[in-house]
Amino acid sequence: MAARLIKTITTDVVSPILKRSYSVQASAYELQHKSPVQKKVANIPKALYGGRHTVTMLPGGGIGPELMSYIREIFRYSGVPVDFEVVDIDPSSEGNDDLDYAITSIKRNGVAIKANIETKSEDTSVLSRNVALRNELDLFVNVLHCKSYPTIKSRHDNVDIIIVRQNTEGEYAMLEHESVKGVIESMKVVTAENSERVARFAFEFAKKNNRKKVTTIHKANIMKISDGLFLEVSRNVAKDYPDIKHNDMIIDNCCMQLVSNPHQFDVMNMTNLYGSITSNVICGLIGGAGLLSGRNYGDHYAIFETGTRNTGTAIAGKNIANPIAMLNAAVDMLHHLGHEHHARNLGDAINKTLIEDHIFTQDLGGSASSTDVISNIMKHLAAKRTYWHPGHVYDI
Ligand code: NAI
Repeated sequence: MAARLIKTITTDVVSPILKRSYSVQASAYELQHKSPVQKKVANIPKALYGGRHTVTMLPGGGIGPELMSYIREIFRYSGVPVDFEVVDIDPSSEGNDDLDYAITSIKRNGVAIKANIETKSEDTSVLSRNVALRNELDLFVNVLHCKSYPTIKSRHDNVDIIIVRQNTEGEYAMLEHESVKGVIESMKVVTAENSERVARFAFEFAKKNNRKKVTTIHKANIMKISDGLFLEVSRNVAKDYPDIKHNDMIIDNCCMQLVSNPHQFDVMNMTNLYGSITSNVICGLIGGAGLLSGRNYGDHYAIFETGTRNTGTAIAGKNIANPIAMLNAAVDMLHHLGHEHHARNLGDAINKTLIEDHIFTQDLGGSASSTDVISNIMKHLAAKRTYWHPGHVYDI
């Protein structure tokens, strides 16, 4: 399909939040990118029936279903007042009915926990389900807290970095076409408004959590207009936070700095693909894909998942997958729902299993099975089993 060059745009994009203008100059093609539409107008309440929350659960593919079954088992065992609406999405489907149902369910419940959903179709009109979910629900930011566990052998100790990643545009616009035979163009979409939302999220996060520095990651030396806009917006937002240091770094150098001296980073702010790459680099540095959780937020909805969004298909059904990353996602979800007591109990049981008991799956150099880890966590939870009553939680 030949791209249609419409016109050259030179315009001032006025941020509705900061009331500042960003100069944008670009040769524009007709954009097919579907921009998310939900913006904050009023809070949509989370589903709460008789004191119990209902959360959408998307088991996805690979190790997803087994990891979700552990969460359900642990929640049942500890009397967590959360019910799950499980939505399976058929990876081979050429249609979007399952995906539409999942989106309706999350809109109804407000919150979801998900594993990686496979999209097997090679038809370019069938969108990645993971990307479509984030776009439809306007989950504009992904947050990953990369914190070392003291007993897990890794290349660097005491890493404590927050990655704040733009989650709905950039290199994930999925706008590719063959302009002439043998020439493929792939569109990267950067908007001032979404760049500002994510930069502001990063600075607000730093302020609330007493973090001292935000580093914006980019490739503005090559992608001068797109990454240039992201960087310019970040610098402007930084002016509103004089107590927080702001610096920037090119993505290539950032990867080298991360593996050689990760302690220089505090909060990191970046576009979509750089976020995925740095998340995987840091997870690799401090223990791999099985440990950390990731949070996706928009103005209305939230989805909790593992930090690296792998399917783990090769290890599915073997009882060897590390369940900790998905359990940490469940802890994040419990905090988000306000079930602090249960979040703390499960978080403590995970920490005791890793830090005091040294129960490690193979990916961490141990020999425990997934179910050994779960049994050990349940042993710790047994000491703190709770009786639930609307509005109250009693230890028994
Ligand atoms: P993969 O699923 O092959 O996982 C990478 C490595 O991590 C494998 O060695 C796997 O065994 C290991 N691993 C993953 N989860 C684990 C766990 N819980 N416990 C122990 N080991 C674990 O990853 P790959 O090839 O990156 O992606 C597979 C699918 O996921 C692809 O369809 C890809 O598009 C999708 N995906 C991957 C993302 C990523 O961050 N790597 C991001 C988004 C999608």
